[in-house]
Amino acid sequence: MIYPVILAGGCGTRLWPVSRQSFPKQFTSLVGEKSLFQQTLDRLSGPGFAPAIVVTHDDYRFIVDDQTQEEDQADITVIAEPVARNTGPAALVAALSMQDTPDAVMMLIPSDHVIEDKKAFEAVVRSAEKVAKKEGIVLFGVPPTRVEPGFGHLHIPQANTDENGLQQIANFVEKPDRATAEKMIDSAEYFWNAGMVLCRVGTLVDAFMEHAPQLVSACESALAWAEEDLSCLKLHAEAYAQCESIALDYAVLEHQRNMRAAILDCGWSDMGNWSALQNASPKDCDGNALSGNATAIRCENSLLKSENPDIALVGLGLEDIVAVATDDGILVAHSDAVDDAALTVDVLSQQE
Ligand code: GDD
Ligand code: MG
Repeated sequence: MIYPVILAGGCGTRLWPVSRQSFPKQFTSLVGEKSLFQQTLDRLSGPGFAPAIVVTHDDYRFIVDDQTQEEDQADITVIAEPVARNTGPAALVAALSMQDTPDAVMMLIPSDHVIEDKKAFEAVVRSAEKVAKKEGIVLFGVPPTRVEPGFGHLHIPQANTDENGLQQIANFVEKPDRATAEKMIDSAEYFWNAGMVLCRVGTLVDAFMEHAPQLVSACESALAWAEEDLSCLKLHAEAYAQCESIALDYAVLEHQRNMRAAILDCGWSDMGNWSALQNASPKDCDGNALSGNATAIRCENSLLKSENPDIALVGLGLEDIVAVATDDGILVAHSDAVDDAALTVDVLSQQE
């Protein structure tokens, strides 16, 4: 049995104007009809999966309620964070909430991914579960297809597959700089970290005790003084605010030894920015991804997306451009600038 823990508290500012602080990307249907969060729930439900724990910001609690009810998954537990403290504290509170069952196998999973081949994904997770039950942390390695400094990188020197189909990880590097990422891809010894973690509850708590003990006491207090409100556990605000804001990758994974990786080759993508959506979308013969009320005339390699049927978005003579229109915002950017798209949110909030 796997206990899924869905991390759904990010604010996705690089996907403005579709992703908003009040309604972030994981709750939108960027790809497919269901939201990315609902697709994640669906991926980890059915035989062999316990009802999920969802860790999210208090502001998104009711969006989670609505979207889980639509999926007929009302038996989930929601842990609501009063302030965002990144994925380190979010993962830790989930593990501490299951501390009474240290041998339970938990799976941390982000809610901003698309996985095309759900069956292949499940088969990889099932074989990794056998290992995670016994010992250690299992991560998921994606064969890289480009230089991508925005991902964690797993060093796997030779394909050294054990009897369970897993690889020993020599080193974990979170978000290397571009030059380092280029060298890593050239060496052909690195895989992208898919951001999912499979291990016993006790293993994760021990790893935090070893590498980030200051987070453990703050998260224990936030849970001990949490308020139960129907199926939601609202963390204690002052106690949780004491946590350093830090990603799980920096707090624990970069320091943890003896981790293994299951290789995930199932059409995985992280919807981190507009280029990721462009890569994951069907394209016309000139490499343009069009969605909604959008038309491309003599355009190449561009993403044109209009979410509002009343706004006709027409690109003329464009190359490597991202143009996205919603009811109340329009972004026009060069593909090279999409990583800086969070700047739009900063600049707009300064103008308010
Ligand atoms: N509950 C909660 N609280 N969730 C959060 C928070 C938070 O404060 N911050 C982020 N999340 C959620 C996001 O909603 C997302 O689903 C997930 O945690 C991962 O956060 P991202 O911010 O999207 O991380 P990333 O994509 O930059 O990097 C991670 O994922 C990559 C692959 O997708 C890392 O694990 C990388 O190593 C990895 O390559
Ligand atoms: Mg992400």
